[in-house]
Amino acid sequence: MRILLVGSGAREHALARALARDPQTEALVVAPGNPGTAAVATNVDLDVLDGAAVVAAARKMAADLVVIGPEAPLVAGVADAVREAGIACFGPGGDAARLEGSKAFAKEVMAAAEVPTALARVCTTLEQVADALDAFGAPYVVKDDGLAAGKGVVVTSDRDAALQHARACLAKTGGDAATQGEPAVVVEEYLDGPEISLFCLCDGAAVVPLEPAQDFKRLGDGDSGPNTGGMGAYSPLPWAPAGLTAEVVERVATPVVAEMARRGTPFVGLLYCGLALTSRGLRVVEFNVRFGDPETQVVLARLESSLGEALMAAATGRLDQAESLRWTDDAAVTVVVAAHGYPGKVRKGDPITGVDEAEELDGVHVLHAGTSLDGEGRLVSAGGRVLSVVGTGPDIQAARATAYAGVERIALDGSQHRSDIAAGR
Ligand code: AMP
Ligand code: GLY
Repeated sequence: MRILLVGSGAREHALARALARDPQTEALVVAPGNPGTAAVATNVDLDVLDGAAVVAAARKMAADLVVIGPEAPLVAGVADAVREAGIACFGPGGDAARLEGSKAFAKEVMAAAEVPTALARVCTTLEQVADALDAFGAPYVVKDDGLAAGKGVVVTSDRDAALQHARACLAKTGGDAATQGEPAVVVEEYLDGPEISLFCLCDGAAVVPLEPAQDFKRLGDGDSGPNTGGMGAYSPLPWAPAGLTAEVVERVATPVVAEMARRGTPFVGLLYCGLALTSRGLRVVEFNVRFGDPETQVVLARLESSLGEALMAAATGRLDQAESLRWTDDAAVTVVVAAHGYPGKVRKGDPITGVDEAEELDGVHVLHAGTSLDGEGRLVSAGGRVLSVVGTGPDIQAARATAYAGVERIALDGSQHRSDIAAGR
């Protein structure tokens, strides 16, 4: 198989690593990639939002399959351009990517498919927001309708802060068709209980779940500080109720995939089900239409069977005939090393040392995200989340100790990481 992978984060490095070690992969190009993917594939620079450029890169390498990592090109319709060019693509078209691109649209689909989720109101004026906040009560949950790189959701007991966030979101221009093109926010009831992420491969009809993982969204230890894109993750979830994965497939992923097919916008790609296990049962917190970051780093660390084959089966409507996925019994933990200032304004260009030394440790691998090479070929920071250090081991605590031993060997001035990823799990 000849594969073009679009994206440049640690998620794409994890995908590239899994695809590269697969004997069925004949060629692997990552666009634009990062210094980590350059070690396992060929990087080519391009604008990931430009469908014609992605198609041209796919044609140039005679790709059999294009895999699109991030949400922005999916929402922009890059997968449509690839499929129109006659090339198999793992990733939903622009219409189906609205499940992530508009929270109002996702709520509408969940209502139609009778999927359990938080009660919510879609608001396009501050008056509606104020009414909704009072209807649901504290803690308040206010979500930007559109894409916001993990920074669109505010959960707070401070009513003024909730209103302030809504005001900022509503001051934007434009919105999804679900809100008649108006900027909107979703105000919803607060969901208690642990969160899990379950990724499902979808081919427009069939659904194949991967192993569940848990993400740590807040910046600080003990879930303090602001929400981030994710500061760490682990898999499997020894505490999760038996039958959880089957329940999510049956009550969430399958009805959503059926509803999208019914609408004539079939969902092909990865449906990321973000779930809360509340005291009143399972509820969907959000959908994403792509692999999660950093959960992918731990889920793929445990995958034994061919990733390329599974993605190709999903892209070509053959998931029902695909071989079952196989997983190791090992656990995996990842700790994100973030730059000074993340998730606010980040400092770039700080030298990074110790990556090779970390990887000398048994069971450690280091995935690149916001890294680049300076003029002298030295590795420097170039983004908010800089590295994902992954540790594997026979159980969560062993994997955790291994991941943190890796983190200890890495030096990046001003960097931040949580010290409690997977602690006590
Ligand atoms: P989202 O982008 O919708 O996943 O929201 C980001 C994070 O905000 C989630 O992972 C949760 O930790 C939190 N969150 C979102 N919705 C709710 C809710 N209804 N109740 C409590 N926390 C929430
Ligand atoms: N880890 C959360 C996300 O990928 O959106």
